[in-house]
Amino acid sequence: MVKQLTEKINKKSIKEQLEFLAKQFKGKIAFSTSFGQEDQIITDIILKNTISIDVFTLDTGRMFEETYKVWNKTNEKYNTKIIPYFPVKEDVEKMLLEKGTHSFYNSIEDRKECCNIRKVHPLKRALKNVDLWITGLRAEQSVTRTELALLEENKTFNTIKFNPLTAWTINDVLKYLKENNVPYNELHDKGFLSIGCSPCTRAIKEGEDIRAGRWWWESKDKKECGLHVEQSENIISIKKLKE
Ligand code: ADX
Ligand code: SF4
Repeated sequence: MVKQLTEKINKKSIKEQLEFLAKQFKGKIAFSTSFGQEDQIITDIILKNTISIDVFTLDTGRMFEETYKVWNKTNEKYNTKIIPYFPVKEDVEKMLLEKGTHSFYNSIEDRKECCNIRKVHPLKRALKNVDLWITGLRAEQSVTRTELALLEENKTFNTIKFNPLTAWTINDVLKYLKENNVPYNELHDKGFLSIGCSPCTRAIKEGEDIRAGRWWWESKDKKECGLHVEQSENIISIKKLKE
């Protein structure tokens, strides 16, 4: 399935790819945005061309003020309502009660617990009836993403995952944003290239890796929050959360 689909779309423009897939997966196709610069490009193409694809975000409850601002700007510019998914309140309450407000700094295990509750579990809910999931991932973003394909099977969430920007460079991204006057997170102008939750993201210095500011206290190969890793650990945690 993935191979045939790739052959059908890999010569098309990104707009044509999205239109083609929206038809193929009618009503079962969605795009997840964190309002990062890559995501804003995909949002622009989907909404400007009124392509029938749901656009949703995972509001972790720990996002930057600037991220909420660009969320609003995006709603206004495209006259839309990005769909929010929020964590299960009992899970957050239990974690806060037992481990305090900054448990993610304690250990990788505690950090993953927080990401599972605030991101992975809501994503599972968002993708419940989705067969094709679109992301803004790019291969050059990280050592954990170098093998990223245009389309891939995702067993964790039981979808096909479409990464239309996988081959884009950071310069391609910046050029598109400028030329198309796309609203973007103002933190990008303050040294934040990759933006996640506020306590887990810092600005990067010149020469540093694009994702050096994400979970900066952890080693490079551990820096995935669980949205984009296929791991049994993940599946187990989702199962646990549902029990
Ligand atoms: S993360 O896994 O480290 O947080 P990253 O910030 O690089 O991911 O974003 C990669 C892609 O994951 C985004 O393009 C988007 O599709 C999805 N994503 C990440 N965070 C969110 C979020 N909070 N809400 C919706 N989608 C997200
Ligand atoms: Fe929690 Fe940090 Fe993960 Fe956000 S990025 S969900 S605050 S551990």
